[in-house]
Amino acid sequence: MNRKEFFSRVGFGAAAALLPACIAGLASSCSSDNSTSPSPAPAPSGVDFLLDVSSGSLATNGGYLVSQGIVVARTNSGTFIAVSAACTHEGTNVNYVASANDFLCPNHGAQFSSTGVVTRGPANTNLKQYNTSLTGNSLRVYS
Ligand code: FES
Repeated sequence: MNRKEFFSRVGFGAAAALLPACIAGLASSCSSDNSTSPSPAPAPSGVDFLLDVSSGSLATNGGYLVSQGIVVARTNSGTFIAVSAACTHEGTNVNYVASANDFLCPNHGAQFSSTGVVTRGPANTNLKQYNTSLTGNSLRVYS
């Protein structure tokens, strides 16, 4: 077998062996590219829990945390706000931006007001807003 024959046979054999895998791989990546976007989890319902704000991120103005699917923030003026954490676009947890007093999704940049209203897409559904009530150092977050 000369060099030309060798490459001809190996090349054809490799191509024949890999072609189905490539097609399968291509088909699978095409299908994931064409799949619908992940659906965000529904906003928590029946919410009623307490948080201690005497320490941790809620002890200082501008701090926030995510608990039970809800982002709870202490604004720069010291009030507490709470909205569902999962971005309504694809479900990434939003971050609280104290300087703007709003919520920003780090994934594709959706923005929500302090009450959860969409102010910039690609999200087109509001976050759910929750009630907060402070007694001493105990913050109640509830539906
Ligand atoms: S997941 Fe939030 S903007 Fe896309």
